[in-house]
Amino acid sequence: MKNANIYILAIESSCDDTSCAILKNNQVLSNITSSQAIHEKHGGVVPELASRDHQKNILVTVKAALNEAKVNLSDLNAIAVTQGPGLLGSLLVGISFAKSLALSLNLPIISVNHMQGHILAHLIEDEECTKPAFPFLCLTISGGHTQLVKVNSALNYEILGTTIDDAVGEAFDKAAKILGLPYPGGPLIDRHAKLGNPHRFKFSNAKTEGYNFSFSGIKTSFLYFIQNNQKTNSNFIQENLADICASYQHHLISTLLIKSIKVIENYKIKDFAIAGGVSANSLMRSKVKELEQAKAINTYIPKFEYCTDNAAMIGIVAYYKYLEEDFATLDFVPITRMESFI
Ligand code: KG4
Ligand code: ZN
Repeated sequence: MKNANIYILAIESSCDDTSCAILKNNQVLSNITSSQAIHEKHGGVVPELASRDHQKNILVTVKAALNEAKVNLSDLNAIAVTQGPGLLGSLLVGISFAKSLALSLNLPIISVNHMQGHILAHLIEDEECTKPAFPFLCLTISGGHTQLVKVNSALNYEILGTTIDDAVGEAFDKAAKILGLPYPGGPLIDRHAKLGNPHRFKFSNAKTEGYNFSFSGIKTSFLYFIQNNQKTNSNFIQENLADICASYQHHLISTLLIKSIKVIENYKIKDFAIAGGVSANSLMRSKVKELEQAKAINTYIPKFEYCTDNAAMIGIVAYYKYLEEDFATLDFVPITRMESFI
């Protein structure tokens, strides 16, 4: 080992954000993300365009992260990169870049599960935040996943519940598209909802077993709800946008919380965290805080910069894997779907 401190350069390119971070042990020295605006007008991420933009942005993002951290390539102990889940072309850009860098610097490479990153973002050292104690429950809510995970230690997890079809982020984004809002629509639904009545319109869900979720039926019923109302009022969306967003958002967040509370009660959970893009949602954040009193538990909400995709969260997983000397060989490949954490 070069020195007592461990310096890791982490790369995240699983979807449409090219992100690079430098960590010194469990502290983030820099975390730079280049977002791709090009997908907005297409109503969703176009994989080919995403890969091309990653290719364009990756070198400048890595250089910017090194500069901001005031770290040289020669200071690094390891290179970390997202292995999956994500888009194949996007993952390939980050992985190929990380492999080349590791090979040329003769450093170990660490492959990281993106969802594990969302969870372990809670273990980043930050004087403004306290960390959850093991075992804690983490509700990971993103554009691709909705999971209730019992986190026994930094590298040991049990998935207690998962979506049997779409992720909650998709339910936000698809509804936003039906409303004519640009991609990604989750933050826009959140913004419009602030001015609306959450109890004006009612939605219902498919029943699911145990702690599992289902969000595909709600998208279809949302489409019919809009189409039916437009038959009698062609300006239905424009005249009711805030109430529609507030009611729909309230429905999705309540669904997430009902199942989370079941786990909290049945497993006698003391520490409850949320992670992933949808944890940026303002209603979710305030409802989770309310649980502290109502259920006598501690709750953990990530800082905004660690909610959506970022490389700092990849770096913190890599730090724990580095301590275990859990390194990848240079022939590892992207995994677009990763259901477990193994
Ligand atoms: O974790 P993330 O950045 O990427 C994936 O790993 O999927 O999550 C992206 C998802 C998108 O569906 C986006 O609409 C949603 O997070 N999102 C939100 C908010 N901010 C991001 N959904 C609701 N309210 C928000 N404020
Ligand atoms: Zn993510």
